[in-house]
Order: sequence, then C-alpha cells, then structure tokens
Amino acid sequence: MCGIIGCVSKENCYEKLLAGMKRLEYRGYDSAGVALLSDGKFAVRKRRGGVSGIAGAPLCGDTGIGHTRWATHGKPSDRNAHPHVAGKFALVHNGIVENHARLRAELEAEGESFLSETDSEVIVRLIARLYEGDFFAAVAAACARLEGSYAIAVLCSDCPGEIVCARQKSPLVAGAAEDALYVCSDIPALCGAASYIAPAADGEFIRIAEGKIAFLDAQGREIPKTFSRVEPCAAAETGTGSFMEREIAAIPRALEDTLAALRRTDFAPCARVLRGAGKIFAVACGTALHAALAFKDAVEGEVGVPVLAHPASEFRYRDPLVGEGDLVVAVSQSGETADTLEAARLAKARGAYVLSVTNIAHSSLAQEADFNIAMRAGAEIAVAATKSYNCQLLCLYYLAAQLCFFRKTRFPAWFAELGTLPAAAREAFGCFAQMNELAARLQGAQGMYFIGRDSDVRTAAEGALKVKEIAYLFAEGYCAGELKHGTLALIEEGFPVFAVATRRALAKKCENTLAEVSSRGAYTVLFSQYEDVLAESCADAVCRLPAVCERLMPVVAVIPLQYFACRMCVLRGYDPDKPRNLAKSVTVE
Ligand code: M6R
Repeated sequence: MCGIIGCVSKENCYEKLLAGMKRLEYRGYDSAGVALLSDGKFAVRKRRGGVSGIAGAPLCGDTGIGHTRWATHGKPSDRNAHPHVAGKFALVHNGIVENHARLRAELEAEGESFLSETDSEVIVRLIARLYEGDFFAAVAAACARLEGSYAIAVLCSDCPGEIVCARQKSPLVAGAAEDALYVCSDIPALCGAASYIAPAADGEFIRIAEGKIAFLDAQGREIPKTFSRVEPCAAAETGTGSFMEREIAAIPRALEDTLAALRRTDFAPCARVLRGAGKIFAVACGTALHAALAFKDAVEGEVGVPVLAHPASEFRYRDPLVGEGDLVVAVSQSGETADTLEAARLAKARGAYVLSVTNIAHSSLAQEADFNIAMRAGAEIAVAATKSYNCQLLCLYYLAAQLCFFRKTRFPAWFAELGTLPAAAREAFGCFAQMNELAARLQGAQGMYFIGRDSDVRTAAEGALKVKEIAYLFAEGYCAGELKHGTLALIEEGFPVFAVATRRALAKKCENTLAEVSSRGAYTVLFSQYEDVLAESCADAVCRLPAVCERLMPVVAVIPLQYFACRMCVLRGYDPDKPRNLAKSVTVE
C-alpha cells in the first residue's frame, strides 16, 4: 500500500516521477504528490485523489520524490498527502510507524508543530531534529527510533542529486537506467524505466549520490549487491477499456507463458522436500487464498496427503503446528503481501521449507523463500486479481503433480492436459455475451450467492470476492450443502444464486440445492461443462463452460465470473481498476 518513488536524472525528473507514479497508482490512489529539489529549494505539489490530479506545468529539478497514498493514519486530504516537509527535508513513506504517537508527543514537547495527521510526518521531523550536517546519519538515526514498517525516500536541500532511502518490512528496490537512477516500492513500476534493478533487504539503506546507487547498512558501510536485468513487462497496457478487462482478455496468453516457464522449472532442488515433507501447509490472502485452497483439494485428491490451508493473517498469529521438515507453500501475486511474507518468515524460523508462488521474480517473498515458482502472468495493474489467479491455479496444479510424482512415482492423469488450458480459457470468452445480459439484468440486486461443492466452492468464493470488491455488492461464496443450515433464510423473490457444478458426481446434489432456492423465489444461474446437467436443470439461466478435465476446471470456470463482476461494476457506475478503500499490494498488516 502506498507507492513511493525517487529519481535522480540527468535532466528534469518531473515527467519520470509522474510516469512512475502512474505505474505505482494501484498501490493507492487516495492522494498523490511530488517534491523536486532545485537550487536548494523544494517545489512541492500534492493533492487528494489520483496522479492525474497533480499533473500540470512541470516542476523544476533533477532530483525528486513522489508518492501515491493508501490512507492509514489521517483521512485522504491535501494536508495528509505526501511528501511531508520539515526544515531541510522532504519525505515519502510507505508503511506504518507504530510508535508514532509517542514520537509525536516527544517532538511536540520539543516545540515541533505538525501539519498533518499522518504517522509519516513524525519521521521527517525526527530526521530534521537529528540533522547535524550528515544527511545519511540523520536518516539512519531517525530509523533507529522507529517501530513498525517503512520504506522511505528522503531529500535534503543541502544535498543536490542525493536521495537517502531505508527499508523495514516494506518493499524497496533500486533501479538504474542510462539517463536516471531510481528507488521505488515496486519492480513492475520500474518496468520500461530502469534496465537493471536490485531490491533492498530489511534494515538496509539505499543512497543515490554522485550518479551512483549504494546499498548501506545502518553504520553507512557499503553492502555489495548484484543488479539483475528487468524483464520486459508483458503488461496489458496497450488497448482500450479498463485494465481489468484487458487483463481478463490476456488470460490465455498468461497461461501459455506460465506453462512454458513451469516446463523449464527444475524441481530437483526441492525434490527431497516434496518427497519427504512432514506436514504440508498453504498460506495466502484473498484471491491467492482461493488458489491455495484449490491446491489443497488437488493434493489431497491426487496424492492422498492432507494440506492445511490457512489465511496468512491467521497462520502467523495462531501459533501454527508447523516445524522442522514441514513444507509451507506461500502464494502471492505481488510477493509483497505483509501477512503472507510474515507467515513464510515464521515458517522458516521454525525450520520449515518455504516454497513460494509469485508473479514478481525479485519480490521479497521470492527472495526469502527456499524455492520460488515464478509464474508469468505479466504485470497486473487492476486491483482485482484476475489473470494472476488463473496462473496461480496453474502453478499450484503443476506443483500438486510434482508432489504426486515424487511421492507416487507417477504424474496424475490430468498432467498431460495442462496444455489444453489456454485454448479452453479462450473458449470461455464465449460466455461473455451471456454475462453481459446477466449483469444488465442483475445490476440492481441487493446481494447474491455463489455456490458449489468441492473445488467449485473455490470458484464460487472467488466469484463472490470479485463482485464484492469492484461492484460493491454483498456477495458470498458458499458450500451448496451448507445453505439450508441457516443462510437459506435470506433467499427471497429474485435473489440471484449462481451455482457452479463442474463435478459430474456432485452435479445432482447441486441441482437439488438449486431447486430448493428456486422454489423460494431465487433467480438461479447454473454453470457447467455438461450439456445434460444444464439441460436437466431447473435454473433460470444456464451457461456452458468449455470441456476441461474436472480437476483443472477452476482455472477456466472462474473466467465468466471474473467478467461478470467487471460488467456489474461498470454498469453500476464504478471504476473496475480502482475499487474504493483498496490497493493492490497490501504491504501493511
Ligand atoms: O499479491 P497477493 O496475491 O499476495 O495479494 C493478495 C490479496 O490481497 C489479493 O489477492 C486480493 O484479494 C485481490 N485484490 C482480490 O482481487
């Protein structure tokens, strides 16, 4: 949450900062701001709202910092927008300073007056107080007093061409291009700007000065780093329509790219663990958690080994029964989600082996895991996860197949069918006309249910999450068999119920549930790949999914639901790319 960027350029850096902030905007869009340093003075422009709100005549300076905010302390406002300035310093911050109230009180007692309600302003005022002519030393001394999480980028009006940054539990990466040096919260935001990148680890500082990037420890000693080439972004950045629509359209290609990468992945380094791990856990948040649950279904179904799937936010605080010799699979598109990272760290600290599945190869999670499966969904800009979910499922099914191979010396029968998924995903686009009609019909609904059994519950839960997240409609993904244990009471005339029934053995059971809700007035829609199941259904509308083997069906069955949510959002008058209150990368807990 919150995007920070800093740039030292051979020429004016204003446009570069703004372009970077545009790419960072999915981290927060409550406010945006920049500070540029020129002739020992700061030019600051900051405002509530998105980056487009601060565009205008370029500010002057070859050194600058920028920020896109997801509000934590202090409501979205011009005053609370970053950068914050105190004396000779300007600062942007991502994270939460947990001891901000105590520090603020101390500083106020020393005569400081605060201009904002943010925790971040405490940092810049502390730096200004501690400054005795050494910019880096003042930042390092201030950081030593902070508790919580931070990635900061700081300018000092005494130091042209210099930016000092620090990282503690919030992502920070340095990037180099021919004409500029960068620091940034996100690798994808440097795509197209920097050619080489190197991420900072917790406790490290980055100083850009005299045309060079240096990684330093708190004493100012240089830490050697290797820069890697930034892979070109396969972003759905071209084309028309929302990013979300373009990202749904990119699912087949993302699956192709991910499958090709999986086929190149050498699992030998983790063979011993896959073969012999004691307990297997899967941890993730939100959409990635639904993928983790589908992984549980696949491993339990194919390998016959239990998988304990937990929301990462619960795992890390429930004293989980994880220990030496266990395997923890951590799933995260961004690889920066605070709870997933902390869950992985806890697992490692207890001696477990962590295998991550991420979309960002150099992300914190990928770096800290013992083994990383890098999916190739390409940059995902819309806050609502779509193509990354389909690719997470693909990676996790691939992993389940490896577990099967290492434990049972055979691959599951469906392993050979993974290659059919991109074409099946394309075929699922055939459902979109019908989803448009359904969205038009249901746009005024007060709420809706998505139901299923077995792995279809994962699809139902993901469909419901999408509708909540972007169409701002109450929706719940539910086990079909659980409805009559209380929830059925909410069904009344016209209440929409979407049922996903892709397991032939369970289709009749699902049909029975549909009959029960239909007879209480629900408007029902059934999704299945089986013609006979659809033909015999009492549903008001049916949608035929492409024929894919049942185990792999979640990769494809979710696509019409992703699109439906997107259309509901647009028809209800909202922006699918920037849902209220949310940001893409949840780097605070
Ligand atoms: O980057 P991650 O996969 O770790 O993100 C986890 C969730 O925050 C994310 O999937 C979220 O639920 C999506 N915005 C839902 O569309």
